[in-house]
Amino acid sequence: MPAYDVERICLLLRKPLIKTKLPGPEARRIVARDRRVLSPSYTRSYPLVIDHARGLWVRDPDGNVFLDFTAGIAVTSTGHCHPKVVHAIRQQVRRYLHMSGTDFYYEPQVELAEKLVRHSPGKDERKVFFTNSGTEAVEAAFKLARYVTKREKIISFFGAFHGRTFGSLSLTGSKIRQREKFGPLVPGVHHVPFPNPYRSPFSEKLAVDDACIKYIVDNLFKRTVSPREVSAFVIEPIQGEGGYIVPPKDFYRKLQKLCREYGILLIADEVQSGMGRTGKFFAIEHFGVVPDIITLAKGIASGMPLGAMIARASLMKWEPGSHASTFGGNPVSCAAALATVGLLEKSLIRNAELMGHYLRKGLERIAKRRKMIGDIRGLGLMQAVELVRDRKKKTLASREQACIVERAFRKGLLLLGCGESAIRFSPALTVRKNEIDTMLEILDDCLGRV
Ligand SMILES: Cc1ncc(COP(=O)(O)O)c(C=O)c1O
Repeated sequence: MPAYDVERICLLLRKPLIKTKLPGPEARRIVARDRRVLSPSYTRSYPLVIDHARGLWVRDPDGNVFLDFTAGIAVTSTGHCHPKVVHAIRQQVRRYLHMSGTDFYYEPQVELAEKLVRHSPGKDERKVFFTNSGTEAVEAAFKLARYVTKREKIISFFGAFHGRTFGSLSLTGSKIRQREKFGPLVPGVHHVPFPNPYRSPFSEKLAVDDACIKYIVDNLFKRTVSPREVSAFVIEPIQGEGGYIVPPKDFYRKLQKLCREYGILLIADEVQSGMGRTGKFFAIEHFGVVPDIITLAKGIASGMPLGAMIARASLMKWEPGSHASTFGGNPVSCAAALATVGLLEKSLIRNAELMGHYLRKGLERIAKRRKMIGDIRGLGLMQAVELVRDRKKKTLASREQACIVERAFRKGLLLLGCGESAIRFSPALTVRKNEIDTMLEILDDCLGRV
């Protein structure tokens, strides 16, 4: 049976199709070859080998078909191989593949920048710097913040993930494994606790967002870090790798007030949360603040490598040669991104909002039965459940998290964990109700067996 038909059957049946013991013989061979030649630093939760994919359906080389609720870690925003994205790539490939947008001019890069600027919150004029990845977008933001403010310090949050190159790794405060043995990291970076409403890191009886602001003022600004030496705060509007944590609605407004008092910039790292995933083009729009700088990557080009740093035009005043990238803003990636933005504008942002709501309701239904779900959080199609051993004590269920993700794989559902004990749901923004129903059914079953 042709591979494409298998997916169509799965779509009709609404069910994954697992025909072999996992991994199957072909997949096992590829995994064994991978082990011999690929870096052991990669983290693979289970042995999925992809052969090809459409929409939310992924087929492995043994003919097993999986339902993908990871979107390649929130990247294939329009689904795998959306025909419009593939068409845009094909059209561009026929014209030229590369001409280094930092040395020459080409229209796809200009057109994409125009679109991103148009979608950016606030009334200020903006400019775009293109990169290949999220970490480079964050590096660019970090460098620009130091360059324009002439201040060397920068503050980020515990639990945040901003990337793995030295600048963004220095901002990252997620897992010690990511930082240990790589020092010395970039100096001038300070971390503060993130206002997690479910697990407040503060002992004060204040609301968690007020406690966080008080911590910054009392512990940093009065004791160790002069606010007049701070270039920027870097935030993930919703902490991603840290566990899909949504801070209280007013937190960023309060943080921005503090920033304005001292001339500190606000950088929103929207590498995971941006591009319509939360039901708005940028997640920060849910919080009613306009950041000075925004970073994007992951979902921007539906799977093609691309990142962007968007800053107020009044800030992006660095000299020619001060920052550039050979491959950043590659024309094929820009073409894919233009098609992606077109699809978001047409219907996918709205679909993310509606399906996010539907997914949330489904998770809430399961949580009534499965006491292991301690918290449900997220916005739009950036949702997670935190697993606990005891709802009252909120004891983390990290081992169970790995076990459920692995079990779901065996049943043909692709999931990923985040934080210490959460499972995230970040499907393509094209997801439909019946795909969510299938995912919920399998998840419920997996939870019931742990
Ligand atoms: C919020 C955030 N920033 C930055 C990055 C780094 O992106 P990349 O892996 O493309 O370098 C990630 C990746 O997960 C991320 O989630």
